[in-house]
Amino acid sequence: MCGIVGYIGTQAASSILIEGLKTLEYRGYDSAGVATVSEGKLQRTRAKGKLVNLQTKLEGLEDPSRLGIGHTRWATHGKPEEHNAHPHTDTKERIAVVQNGIIENYRELRAELKDKGHHFRSDTDTEVIPHLIAEYLENPLDESILTTQSELLEAIRQAVNRLQGAFALAIISIDFPDELIVVRQQAPLAIGFGQGEFFCASDTPAIMPYTQAVLTLENGEIARLTPMGVEVYDFPGHRLKKKPQTLNWNPIMVEKQGFKHFMLKEIYEQPGVVRTCLETYLDTAWEPNSGHSPIRLALPDALLNDLQHIQILACGTSWHASLVGKYLLEQVAGIPTVVQYASEFRYAPAPLMPNTLTIGVTQSGETADTLAALDMEQTRRLASGKAQYAPRMLGITNRMDSSLARLIPHIVGTMAGIEIGVAATKTFVAQLMAFYFLALELAYRRQSISLERIGEIIDGLRQLPAQLELVLESQERYVEELSHDFADTKDFIFIGRGINYPIALEGALKLKEISYIHAEGYPAGEMKHGPIALLDEKVPVVAIATKGTVYEKVLSNAQEAKARDARLIGVVPMNDVEAEETFDALLPVPDVDELLSPILTVVPVQLLSYHIAARRGLDVDQPRNLAKSVTVE
Ligand code: G6P
Repeated sequence: MCGIVGYIGTQAASSILIEGLKTLEYRGYDSAGVATVSEGKLQRTRAKGKLVNLQTKLEGLEDPSRLGIGHTRWATHGKPEEHNAHPHTDTKERIAVVQNGIIENYRELRAELKDKGHHFRSDTDTEVIPHLIAEYLENPLDESILTTQSELLEAIRQAVNRLQGAFALAIISIDFPDELIVVRQQAPLAIGFGQGEFFCASDTPAIMPYTQAVLTLENGEIARLTPMGVEVYDFPGHRLKKKPQTLNWNPIMVEKQGFKHFMLKEIYEQPGVVRTCLETYLDTAWEPNSGHSPIRLALPDALLNDLQHIQILACGTSWHASLVGKYLLEQVAGIPTVVQYASEFRYAPAPLMPNTLTIGVTQSGETADTLAALDMEQTRRLASGKAQYAPRMLGITNRMDSSLARLIPHIVGTMAGIEIGVAATKTFVAQLMAFYFLALELAYRRQSISLERIGEIIDGLRQLPAQLELVLESQERYVEELSHDFADTKDFIFIGRGINYPIALEGALKLKEISYIHAEGYPAGEMKHGPIALLDEKVPVVAIATKGTVYEKVLSNAQEAKARDARLIGVVPMNDVEAEETFDALLPVPDVDELLSPILTVVPVQLLSYHIAARRGLDVDQPRNLAKSVTVE
């Protein structure tokens, strides 16, 4: 994965490229580079490490070029060293390419091109692309059907038809100083339309400061950007008619607004996110005798009626949200539900079950494994030709402009606003909200719980924004102080049961991701079957124990840990004497209906991870080796 940007127009390209890359650094930050073209020169600057290193290198360099491309890398093929940083060039250094994705057949292509005398300088898969384009510029295949006369476009078109894999590309050449060519095949790419200037980027925040008019390319499309306009073609070379759409993101959303890190800002945005979700998807005037559903998801009957089975596909934090979703869909809507890692499902799908709703959950809407698993499922169900196996597909995403939204016909938007911190926080809470709404909609349709119980859950949901504010206000300082105690801690265990077991998993994942402390999330009842062997006074145990069916059980599991000298931290109901007696440190949350508790219990574990990482001086928003959107398999 990686972030790519490009610019052609009337302004100096390099500062626009750098500003764009700043907004894309969440996609990878192992190295960065830019290349520009002017007055017959290709100027390329690359630096290992974060973007700031590239900026330092560029300081003082005069570069008036009005055409350029840039890249921020998450290494796949080749170590994160400068010689592997993009842009990559052909042997004569006349063509420069940035790529987001993986070229699966790069080995064969590299061997073929080496035989033809091309000289390679990196260990990457990407480098075959400029060499292949150079090859087709010199020896074009005689098959062009393009309506444009652009030799560069035609050579690129011929080259991309040889590439296998998932990729988005931006390409410039000294010999074509008025052209920026971009390509999309299974990796995101958007084009921004300004006045006599055009932009391209892996994600729209890089474009937003300049224009709201954006065209998202589809898979298998190539676009030629010139100062005069944009032409779009398919890979076989047919001209396509495309128009930009107007974005409704606000650039202010991507600023820290006084918070030290985006992650902390996003944790604090959670009450507002829940409020927005409620305003969007809940009929605020609903009462049990209203005679219609309280939920406004606008999903068709054919998708939701007569379901026998639900399968959810996701990765990472979205997979954890899906586990909460499974609990709700089974316990509230009464539908058997499985949650699968998309990367596993792809290569070992369960045999087809009839009348199944398949839900893809992905914050970014771009995770390659999730998209591929959903695509595969949709295709195999269509191929079955049987009505009972017909695909019923639903996507849950925070990006209505994403690849997921184009792949899947029905989408529930999570309304969280753009999330920059690599560790997901507010989008997780928003995904949980989507599952509450879906479970309640299905429960209403199937009458799996009484209307009064639906009313109770809805009343509880309405209280959540204020309760989240209370948790944030009451805990921020205490958690910060508590985090000092873990300066040298090497291992953590998180335990929870039932609907809060996924919160234990999410707590452990957050801590691993941003503080690099080894952490495990376990169902509390399983601790005695293995992880208990790890416990001693050096291993803190965080227990999520809220009132409900398994409260006493979790307290007993916590006691078992205490008996092994573990330091006990409890995410527990406020003012609970039993909890006060059990735990060494308390992170209290309002005592709510167990079903709704994950929305509140996740906040203390987010804050704990944040403060431990911040206290250790780590780069909370851009943790090592990670990227927010993983667009490679
Ligand atoms: C990456 C991110 C995780 C995220 C996962 C799934 O690994 O670092 O934070 O949960 O991708 O992302 P998605 O956009 O599909 O929810």
